[in-house]
Amino acid sequence: MTDDSGDRRESTDPHTLGIHGGGHGSREGGPVVPPIMQSAAFFGGTDGGDVSALYSRYGKNPNQLQVGAKVARLEGMEAGLALGSGMAAITLSVLACVRSGGHVVASRHLYGITRRFLELELPRRGVDVTFVDPEGNDAWRDALRPETGLLYMELPTNPTLRVFDPRPVAELARRKGIPLALDATFASPINFRGGEHGIDLVIHSATKYLGGHTDLIAGVVCGRQELVERVRSLLSLYGPALDPHAAWLLDRSLRTLAVRVERHNRSAEALAHWFRGRAGVEEVIHPSLGEHPDHDVARRVLSGFGGMLGVVVEGGASGAERFCRGLRLAAPAPTLGGVETLVAVPGLSSHATIPESERKALGIPEGLVRISVGLEGITDLETDFGHALERVRSGIA
Ligand SMILES: Cc1ncc(COP(=O)(O)O)c(C=O)c1O
Repeated sequence: MTDDSGDRRESTDPHTLGIHGGGHGSREGGPVVPPIMQSAAFFGGTDGGDVSALYSRYGKNPNQLQVGAKVARLEGMEAGLALGSGMAAITLSVLACVRSGGHVVASRHLYGITRRFLELELPRRGVDVTFVDPEGNDAWRDALRPETGLLYMELPTNPTLRVFDPRPVAELARRKGIPLALDATFASPINFRGGEHGIDLVIHSATKYLGGHTDLIAGVVCGRQELVERVRSLLSLYGPALDPHAAWLLDRSLRTLAVRVERHNRSAEALAHWFRGRAGVEEVIHPSLGEHPDHDVARRVLSGFGGMLGVVVEGGASGAERFCRGLRLAAPAPTLGGVETLVAVPGLSSHATIPESERKALGIPEGLVRISVGLEGITDLETDFGHALERVRSGIA
């Protein structure tokens, strides 16, 4: 795919990049929308040259290349690689940076499955992990060892919506020559541009905001070409390639990413204010709120406070279950970032494998309901959540 437009190359506007940032074929007589190259392989391979572009497991199918390039442009980074899931992007990025005898320093505040990978899989490969409280720089610095090969964090965190400032960590990483990988799934490149903050590898579960319609599973990793190529070489070994059709769907979704995320941001902020002080609600968690512990950091680091919202309801886990059962428009489902409003109870789903005492220490109370605020009318959502809160208060199961 060639991109021959000087204007499109230079834009940093995410609305423009979401549409044109993946490059474009010839304009005259060509399709407005790039076609799906639903082919496992391409002719060739007998002349002794590089065959990686001829077989779609290597991540160089035109549809895979297009979304990787587009997300890299959105992040302001050199290169991007599309993979078959967010976990594929996470696991291969980590493995690309460490080897047996190595060490990873990771934030304690992580998506439960990422944490399980670091905790259970890395030791099996002879890699040690130290989990740190990501606030400030000291814990990261104190945890470093001569064999440390990677620093790892999330922004904002799932499900607690903490916004730990990645800039001092990036500065430490730069000084020590250790890559910093950051899972920015909850922010999306609209609310946080990794290239502007010195992050070495930005990772997305593209299943979430990038895909945005809850109809595909995908991941993307962006960074310097050399680092991304290391991840690509593991992709060719382990094989979690993104199917060309899913890559095409993802590219379709990226065209509306900026407008969707802007509305997710606005609706979540409006709902955060609506929930605050309502009967049945113990706490509202959203980085836009002045009482959020990282409100000031979020103002400095993010360009939008995000579409995820936490509501701690009265009555602990059973209160949270009652709340979910009272919903008619929003619905429980174990994902986020789509056009429809979805809820989850992290203590019963994504973080169920973490012991209760630790969940408490991380700020995940039993009554926490994580809300992925969709694009529906805000009044309809308020009505729906109002019914659910009545159910919490009345104690109806
Ligand atoms: C923050 C975060 N990172 C990564 C993942 C994993 O993504 P996937 O389900 O696309 O593998 C998730 C899934 O919920 C997530 O919330």
